[in-house]
Amino acid sequence: MTVSAAITVSDKTVEMPVKAGTIGPSVVDIAKLYAQTGMFTYDPGFTSTASCESKITYIDGDEGVLLYRGYPIEQLAEHGDFLETCYLLLYGELPTPAQKADFDYRVTRHTMVHEQMMRFFQGFRRDAHPMAVMVASVGALSAFYHDSTDISDPHQRMVASMRMIAKMPTLAAMAFKYSIGQPFVYPQNSLDYSSNFLRMCFAVPCEEYKPNPILARALDRIFTLHADHEQNASTSTVRLAGSSGANPFACVAAGIACLWGPAHGGANEAALHMLEEIGTVDRIPEYVARAKDKNDPFRLMGFGHRVYKNYDPRAKIMQKTTHEVLGELGIKDDPLLQVAMELERIALSDPYFVEKKLYPNIDFYSGITLKAMGFPTSMFTVLFALARTVGWIAQWSEMIEDPGQRIGRPRQLYTGEPQRDYVSITQR
Ligand code: SDX
Repeated sequence: MTVSAAITVSDKTVEMPVKAGTIGPSVVDIAKLYAQTGMFTYDPGFTSTASCESKITYIDGDEGVLLYRGYPIEQLAEHGDFLETCYLLLYGELPTPAQKADFDYRVTRHTMVHEQMMRFFQGFRRDAHPMAVMVASVGALSAFYHDSTDISDPHQRMVASMRMIAKMPTLAAMAFKYSIGQPFVYPQNSLDYSSNFLRMCFAVPCEEYKPNPILARALDRIFTLHADHEQNASTSTVRLAGSSGANPFACVAAGIACLWGPAHGGANEAALHMLEEIGTVDRIPEYVARAKDKNDPFRLMGFGHRVYKNYDPRAKIMQKTTHEVLGELGIKDDPLLQVAMELERIALSDPYFVEKKLYPNIDFYSGITLKAMGFPTSMFTVLFALARTVGWIAQWSEMIEDPGQRIGRPRQLYTGEPQRDYVSITQR
């Protein structure tokens, strides 16, 4: 049955085809709207606009559901590991034991970066924000790996993808070490992905370092939670950059830049600063009042979401992981956790947040966990970028492999000056 949507403009009615997906909202295909009506649609925040067709991730914001290739995030976080999720997002199916072993082997053997990247890092001030270092160093990878920048070659696309997934932890750890004046630590092939990252961050040459397996497992789960999230701002940035034919390293660097913003991935850093500023439970009402005050730009960081109008399923798993990590580290009554949990309790019973369907998102609890693990606040969004790299790469690959792919080029509603003639400066 062909379904269509009728759009009447002035005295003319045009029919636009309606396309249905596997699950979730159908779409009205408006590609021919301008040709048939001379009008554009207008949706600046893309609240009602699908930018693409995708098979990778599905979110039901009303029900608080997140599926990676159809598998619920709760099951993947519970039963799998991050590299298994990477394989699933990239190839569409859970790996067999042999496929998993081969994937782990290939990622592990791409973790070193070109030795001259060390000199690249030396150009930064020690107090440079690690996200600035990540934007620059990931973009710079395209200057080192010319043999994997031809996006028309499927083999080169695969090599570039593996390199980025493998090297992000190394670059992130280097950004951290550089910021604290400690020597870089090379990856260790005998360690799993997340244990390797912990060692590159926290080992020092003066003594043996053995990653805590509980913390490594928790961090691995945190990476899984952050791996992909359909067409969020940074993924849309990567897709738009990739639509021009830019190489994947440059596209991911653009995604990192977008993720940095406090409304997006930077919210985990902002949320922890907010909890520290609130400081004690008795000061929560003052901040909740500010968040509700239209004249006050303050917002509860880590709260609210464009898509989730229910509890972010990742936040629930994140909260459980927070308790697990604090328990493993013997941290009792962490003041930040006390403030966070009381703030959540108050906000979730406040009519303002209930009516606007504002719930904690993934960034609300992640900062407490990462701080407890020993990461400085400035590294929180770097870890988000590390994990999201596989999502960006999977979405970028899906776009590049789409035979109908074209450069993304939105139009606008022009409200500037009508045409007017130049006036000589002597006449002004
Ligand atoms: C991520 O898109 C993704 O999938 C992102 C992400 C991913 O995995 O990629 O999930 C990761 O970015 C999570 C979101 C992290 N950001 C924050 O926690 C920052 C705080 N949250 C907000 O700034 C806000 O909720 C957004 C940016 C997340 C969503 O913004 P929207 O969808 O544009 O919503 P909005 O700004 O239009 O807000 C709707 C209403 C407004 O009130 P009214 O104008 O309707 O009266 O809700 C209010 C807002 O003032 N509101 C908040 C609020 N968030 C929204 N009020 C107080 N505190 C908040 N946090």
